[in-house]
Amino acid sequence: MRRWSRAHRAEGRRIGFVPTMGYLHEGHLSLIDHARKESDAVAVSIFVNPIQFGPAEDLASYPRDLERDRAAAQQRRADCLFVPSTTVMYGSDPVVRVGPGSLAAHLCGPHRPGHFEGVLTVVAKLFHMVEPDVAVFGRKDFQQARMITRMVQDLSFPMRVVVAPTVRDSDGLALSSRNRYLSPAERTAAVRIPRSLEAAHRAFRTGAIGTGELVAEARAVLEAEPLIRIDYLEAVDPNTLEPVDLATGQTVLAVAVRIGSARLIDNVLLADGVGLSNLD
Ligand code: PAJ
Repeated sequence: MRRWSRAHRAEGRRIGFVPTMGYLHEGHLSLIDHARKESDAVAVSIFVNPIQFGPAEDLASYPRDLERDRAAAQQRRADCLFVPSTTVMYGSDPVVRVGPGSLAAHLCGPHRPGHFEGVLTVVAKLFHMVEPDVAVFGRKDFQQARMITRMVQDLSFPMRVVVAPTVRDSDGLALSSRNRYLSPAERTAAVRIPRSLEAAHRAFRTGAIGTGELVAEARAVLEAEPLIRIDYLEAVDPNTLEPVDLATGQTVLAVAVRIGSARLIDNVLLADGVGLSNLD
């Protein structure tokens, strides 16, 4: 991997990097497009990282299809597909990990103990293997993107992080590898996730700034659907991820719900909404 990267850099090309766990969808592929704009040679990694899954989570059933992923990445003109084995990543039985500090105190942190430590550790390792100039992450995983940006800053990685917009289905549901766990009825119910965020955005746009009220607007949309159970729904500061009482346009409303066996997350910048006009 490093040989490829260093050969390109020796020729004056900037390296772009898109880390994934595979089962690529349009959200992942859009990150390749962003990376191509920011660099001259793009590497995509696929590694289903065991240390970021909790014991009761979906590591064993996580969808995998390497041949389809290879074709999709190639078609999107990725220049390199890096698919390390678990032995390459963790064969030396490492004991040191990278931790997210206070950024894991809210949102998904308390619900997924150890998850973000697993994410930051694997991403730090991948960065050392790929040595990118720029890495691209999706805004859908807002807390993750924020932590990785901070890790790069706080630990002086010699590279940039770019966070790209969430790609959504035509009805607004954020694309996710985990959407495939949904039955048709659950998929129909899931449209309430973006609609709940849009309801809060609309309330904000028409003058509400108390986050209690904004969260209540979103919660009402979710609670009207019996197939949905809310893990959390929180208005947070985009930098510290701390809850806020009064919203500004920069406040992020983040949600995690369970529908059937799937756990789905989404978020919105209150100034922007989810960017769809056909959600009413
Ligand atoms: P994965 O869930 O495969 O996601 C890989 C990248 O795709 C992440 O940056 C994620 O935010 C982005 N992504 C997922 N759905 C998206 C969507 N609908 N629109 C835009 N971007 C989207 O996130 C991980 O893998 C892992 O935690 C990883 C960072 C690879 C570390 O193991």
